[in-house]
Amino acid sequence: MSGFRVRQFSDTHFTGSGVAPYGGMGPDPDLVFDAVLAQLDERPGVDLTVVTGDLADHGEPGEYRHVAGQLGRLDGEVHVLAGNHDRRIHLGASPLADGEGGADRIRMPDSAEVGGWLFAYADSNGDGDDVDDDRGNDGKGVLADADAEVDRLDRLLGGAADQPAFLWVHHPPCELGGFSLPEYVAQVEALVGRHPNVRGIGCGHAHTDVVRPVGGVPVHLCPSMTLSIDLDAGTTMPPGFREYRFGDDGTVDSVVVHVDDERWAERRPLPQVVLDWMAGLVDTEELRAHFGHH
Ligand SMILES: [Fe+2]
Ligand SMILES: [Fe+2]
Repeated sequence: MSGFRVRQFSDTHFTGSGVAPYGGMGPDPDLVFDAVLAQLDERPGVDLTVVTGDLADHGEPGEYRHVAGQLGRLDGEVHVLAGNHDRRIHLGASPLADGEGGADRIRMPDSAEVGGWLFAYADSNGDGDDVDDDRGNDGKGVLADADAEVDRLDRLLGGAADQPAFLWVHHPPCELGGFSLPEYVAQVEALVGRHPNVRGIGCGHAHTDVVRPVGGVPVHLCPSMTLSIDLDAGTTMPPGFREYRFGDDGTVDSVVVHVDDERWAERRPLPQVVLDWMAGLVDTEELRAHFGHH
């Protein structure tokens, strides 16, 4: 079967410190990534890997050197974008952005032409979580510098109206309980309404594996390299990733692949504070305090 093949990782939350994210509740991403790489040996190669944000857990410079080393273990080209745990001041100065340190294959582009498709990489960190100071983000997303980013995407997608396009972004721009802001959903719904060449969206942030629509377009969510959740069951689920096939005919297929390892096979009930946050009953400050976030 023809088509362009992409593997998506998201929310790698690498620390390089041996300290597992989420107060130790999440699996150590370094151990998970080792297991993923071993599992990839048995899977067919892909043409491109896309990593949709929360690359590092705290956005520290040393973490990005570690992320670059880890992603450098992958074959082929890797495109990354920033999530709310990332801090652009450090990410932008890292080997991930400038291609130094033997990481030439890893880039952070605004867009790419791949296999007849236009890939548009959008910045959903509009509430200011990418600066090197107090992060004040409520964990939800909105298009960054809203008018400028919307205009850029309009020009990009409008300039390729006869070509299938796919949008990659960190935050899920679809209805998802406590995970999405209505104004962000409205921004993206309007965007895909103006650009019928957008055939789908790939994102992360919610650390889960569902596909939900926005404006009639499927939004593919990707599990994390650490704590991942089954929204319906209210439990954890094994870490994982997605694999996509972008057809010459403008169709997109994707599947979720969970890491096959008994260390993370158990599905544990989520703490009540997480369920309450997902239902909008407690705010993010309370959630962060619970897990020791700064
Ligand atoms: Fe994340
Ligand atoms: Fe996130």
